[in-house]
Amino acid sequence: MNRLILGIESSCDETAVAVYRADVERGEFGVKSNELHSQITLHQQFGGVVPELASRSHLEKINMVMTQALHKANVSLSEIDVIAVTTHPGLPGSLLIGLCFAKSLAYALNKPIIGINHLEGHAFSPMIENNVPFPHICLTASGGHTALFLIKGFGDYEIIGQTVDDAAGEAFDKVAKVVGLPYPGGPVIEKLAREAEFKDYYTYTRGSGKTLDFSFSGIKTAVLYDMVKRGVYDLHKKKFLLSGDAAHEEQKKIASSLLVCISDIFKKKLAYALEAYPHIQAITFAGGVACNKYLKVELQQWADQHHLHFFYPSPQYCTDNGAMIAYVASYKAAQGVFDTLNIDI
Ligand code: KG4
Ligand code: ZN
Repeated sequence: MNRLILGIESSCDETAVAVYRADVERGEFGVKSNELHSQITLHQQFGGVVPELASRSHLEKINMVMTQALHKANVSLSEIDVIAVTTHPGLPGSLLIGLCFAKSLAYALNKPIIGINHLEGHAFSPMIENNVPFPHICLTASGGHTALFLIKGFGDYEIIGQTVDDAAGEAFDKVAKVVGLPYPGGPVIEKLAREAEFKDYYTYTRGSGKTLDFSFSGIKTAVLYDMVKRGVYDLHKKKFLLSGDAAHEEQKKIASSLLVCISDIFKKKLAYALEAYPHIQAITFAGGVACNKYLKVELQQWADQHHLHFFYPSPQYCTDNGAMIAYVASYKAAQGVFDTLNIDI
């Protein structure tokens, strides 16, 4: 039986390993450990992830993170039944570190390997801790992707909408960068928006057209041109012109307006999705952006108004993590879906 699953995630800037227990006979399911080495401080000075630095750091840390995950779960490597690893999408160099590591383990331990789609990991992450009824719609929003999934069963899903340009988290990160705020932008924008009481000062574009796809690059442009109009940004020098208290005031207003705008876009897209798929039982919210408390409250209210259940994962399962990879592998293993050592990124 495939009871203990090791989940390895290294698609971007988090080196993550988790142990998930799926004991069908005893009916015991759950995350035994979920360890992580974050590279945020490594990339912060560049305002975004530098791929070459990311893969080098994964290589340095992955063995240590796995050792911690086994230790926390109180299991030895030989007790692991299945090795699961993210194979796509992601940064090639980063993915390769995780995959080579996973293949070596699978080969040395003579255990099965399962390659996992990172997006499927995010989309099913709300189910790690909750019994979410099918069918449901998952809004996944992170730094690399934003999509709507129609989820019909375990591993049975289709993408019904996705971003045509930037991801939602990228909008937070890019706007933060142009107004001189640190990377990643999401958490600091939430904090500033709270200070500004989530008021919509500048009313950025919500986009037009009744589509389930997203587009966030226009918001960044809107924020920039709006600042130019108010004389607080020099487009040629690419420079935010305010400092001190004035800068803080402006950052607060922009952060608040941006968050309210993105919240409105999410609700609008969910409304379109509900219209197209009226039989859904619930809404879920996943990915790094789902750490945002304001967005969770807004979406909860929206779901209540539409008589839908609403679920989201704990923050440690929102941002990139090994648990969601192991979780997806747990139902794949139960379905008898395995890969061979020939899998590639
Ligand atoms: O899922 P994740 O860790 O990595 C990717 O797969 O991209 O998501 C990271 C993204 C970043 O863009 C970050 O700004 C955003 O999630 N994020 C947030 C918050 N915390 C992280 N966005 C909004 N509010 C937050 N509190
Ligand atoms: Zn992710």
